[in-house]
Order: sequence, then structure tokens, then C-alpha cells
Amino acid sequence: MFRTLFYRLPVKWRYTVRRTVFYPFDLIEGLTGKRPPMVPPKGMIFTGSGNFLEQGETFLEYFTKYGQLEPQHRVLDIGSGIGRMAVPLTSFLIEGSYEGFDVVERGVKWCQQQISTRYSNFNFTYYPLHNDLYTESGESALQFKFPYADNEFDFVFLTSVFTHMLPEEVEHYMHEINRVLKPGGRVLATFFLLTDKSVEAMANSEFNFSHNNGHYSLMDEKVKAANVAFSEHFFQKNLIDEANFRLIHLLPGTWSNRPDGHDFQDIVVAEKVK
Ligand SMILES: C[S@@+](CC[C@H](N)C(=O)[O-])C[C@H]1O[C@@H](n2cnc3c(N)ncnc32)[C@H](O)[C@@H]1O
Repeated sequence: MFRTLFYRLPVKWRYTVRRTVFYPFDLIEGLTGKRPPMVPPKGMIFTGSGNFLEQGETFLEYFTKYGQLEPQHRVLDIGSGIGRMAVPLTSFLIEGSYEGFDVVERGVKWCQQQISTRYSNFNFTYYPLHNDLYTESGESALQFKFPYADNEFDFVFLTSVFTHMLPEEVEHYMHEINRVLKPGGRVLATFFLLTDKSVEAMANSEFNFSHNNGHYSLMDEKVKAANVAFSEHFFQKNLIDEANFRLIHLLPGTWSNRPDGHDFQDIVVAEKVK
């Protein structure tokens, strides 16, 4: 209910409402000096709820355990938001380097000012692409060629990004990720995957995708990028096989209410076929 109302607001208003709701909390935290360095005020965190630092730490564990991330790696964070994943990486990528890009300028600016000034091996770039949840205008993501060389990265990740993009955009991104990854390099991405088990469990969940479009389903037809789920067949054929990847891990999430879930979203790790 609250979610639906929030999505009905124009994009700009959603940012303003968040800042206003959290203003008293952020003011007190700012005055008492309780906010750790590089952590944004709550009203600025447009990328999801929960504990900002803990979520980043948890994903760093997934990156090393399932993605085989190492401290000397060159890493690409697609949809870097407001630095939730980058912050813990600053103390891990000691000899390595990090590139992050996003379509929301205020998030990129925060990361440039708070993270890159402290860690010169961390670079953030803004690209004005359109996404009906996050931006009011911009180019289509379908034509966006990543501004990186072939075989440049050891590890690429997207946390809660493909869950806010449409299927053709995700297909295009998976081909671009394959191009910029080194042979044998890994991508870790989170999804909402419609499998027999998740569809069955979803029937009893408030978090469901009722607008079925065949190979993908939407939570909200008016704001398409609000939450997007893909069929298992589309995922395996179009996003893994045709993009020249091999699936290494698929850790189901708790989003659908299934009892054996791992993190909230499904976590996928795939390797670029050599
Ligand atoms: C839920 S947030 C997650 C942010 C970040 N990955 C995290 O985990 O904190 C989704 C992010 O995807 C970004 N995004 C949406 N469409 C994008 C696109 N086409 N290319 C890159 N980033 C995109 C949004 O601007 C937003 O920062």
C-alpha cells in the first residue's frame, strides 16, 4: 500500500519525501557526530532500507566466497547508488581498483566527494540514462556502450540493479559485462527469478509480481522499473547462455517467502566462458 503510493509520486518528489521524513533523525545524527565517515544521511539513501554498513559487509562476503574476489582485482560496480557496496570494499581492494557508475547524479556526487577523495583507486561516473523509478529523463540503456576496454575487469557486480531494469536492457548489459570481463572473470548479480518454487511461495507473499508479461513480470505497471522479475527460461537462455556465461551459483532469496532463502534477492554468480 505505502509502496504503491510512493511510486505514484513524481521521481523528484520521492527524493524530497525521503529527505523530509528522515530530516529530524539525520539532523540529530549530524549534530552528535554519530554517523561514520562515508555513510550518507538516511534521507539521502535512495537505494533501499536496512543497515547501510552491514549490508555492504554481507555482500563483501558473498563477493569473496562466491565471486572469488581478491584484493588486487579490478572491479566494476554497475548501479553504484550511493556507495553501499563501495564503502566496505575500500578496506579490501588494497592493491586493486574500483569503477562504479550510476544514472542518479546525486548518488555519484556523494561517492566522489566522500569516497574518491579518501581512496584514489575508487572512481565514480554519472551517465544520464533513463529508468522510470530513478530518473526523469535520459538516454535509453539499450544503446549504452560501457566506456571500458574489452577484458578490463576481474569482477563485475550489480546489487539490486537488474531487479529494476527491463529484460532487453538486462540482456544488453549482460553482453556488455561479458565484453569488459577478463576470460574466466565472474559477475555477481541479484535477481527476482520466477522458478516453480518461487512462484508457488509467492502466492502467500505480499511481495508479488502480478503483472505477467510472459518472460518477465512486473510489480507495478505504471512504474515498470519498480520491481522486475524474470522467468527462469529467459534468465538461463538469454542472460546466461546467449551472453556467453556459465552459471556457477544460484542462491535463492527470501523475497518470495520460500523457506530456504539466502539473502532477500536471488544471488547469481556466472563466469565468462573462455
Ligand atoms: C536499489 S538501487 C541499488 C544501488 C546499489 N547497487 C546498492 O546496492 O546499494 C538500484 C540502482 O540502480 C541504478 N540504475 C538504474 N538503472 C540503471 C542503469 N541502466 N544503469 C546503471 N545503473 C542503473 C539506480 O540509479 C540505483 O542506484
